[in-house]
Amino acid sequence: MTRRQRGWRIPAALVALSAVPLAAGTARLVELAGGPRLIPSDPRFTASPLPVIVHIVGAAVYALLGAVQFVPALRRRHPRWHRVAGRAVVAAGAAVAGSALWLTLFFPPEPGSGPLLFALRLVFGPAMVAGLVLGMTSIRRGDVPAHRAWMARTYAIALGAGTQAFTEGIGGALLGHSALVLDASRGAAWVLNLAVAEWAIRRTSPDRPRRARRARRARRVPAGLVVADRHSRGTGGNDGRDRRAAHHRREGLAADAGQWTRHPWPPVHSR
Ligand code: HEM
Repeated sequence: MTRRQRGWRIPAALVALSAVPLAAGTARLVELAGGPRLIPSDPRFTASPLPVIVHIVGAAVYALLGAVQFVPALRRRHPRWHRVAGRAVVAAGAAVAGSALWLTLFFPPEPGSGPLLFALRLVFGPAMVAGLVLGMTSIRRGDVPAHRAWMARTYAIALGAGTQAFTEGIGGALLGHSALVLDASRGAAWVLNLAVAEWAIRRTSPDRPRRARRARRARRVPAGLVVADRHSRGTGGNDGRDRRAAHHRREGLAADAGQWTRHPWPPVHSR
């Protein structure tokens, strides 16, 4: 598998994760449009279909176009596409979160759910909006790592809808069926997604060698061992410069982009 093909693995997995709610959403749209009834009709949505239509269409755009934004080669080779598509993804994300709040606050509660899910939706809906705003403001000031981190967290919240298909099934099988189990298993999906996003953000952070060095210093490992360790792992004894350069190449950034220019190489030692 080539590097370019590998870059599509994560987006493909993300699309696969959103497949269940997107299929349900398509079935709901077909039903609301008067087509064949693929899923049981819901009188709440039949009476007032607009928010659920906005929610489903927004979610489809956000999940599919948003997944493509994670392909490194596309960001690198088509930065204009990334910017234009990114604006559409943010608008779709705002539609998902806004309609989710609308459905939560102004519709009768989902049958079988309880107050915990109601509260969780009131937390994660606004959290999604906050993530989108922080992602936009960070890229406007040129902070690429913060932009990536916020966009990943926001996507993780939205894709809770996909993970919930699994956690709900597992929760029901292990603990039986009750409002509390349903609510908690849906909440677990959001927590799980955010934990995976945090892990991925830290794993790909260009600052990782600096953090590891700080941790080694905290453990008081002698300096010679630190250098040997760096060489032996082949990560380069140049204070993370290779790694940052590789990160810039992946992201299509100029070598002097953003915050990394603050760290000169070789280091300037004052007497
Ligand atoms: C890409 C992400 C998402 C997808 C694909 C998605 C999909 C769907 C679908 C298909 C429905 C309609 C269910 C039906 O017809 O019975 C729905 C309903 C709903 N969604 Fe989402 N959703 C997403 C994100 C979110 C988020 C992040 C929240 C909350 C923070 C949320 C809250 C809701 C609520 C409150 C309802 C109404 C549930 C009811 O009362 O039956 N959704 N979603």
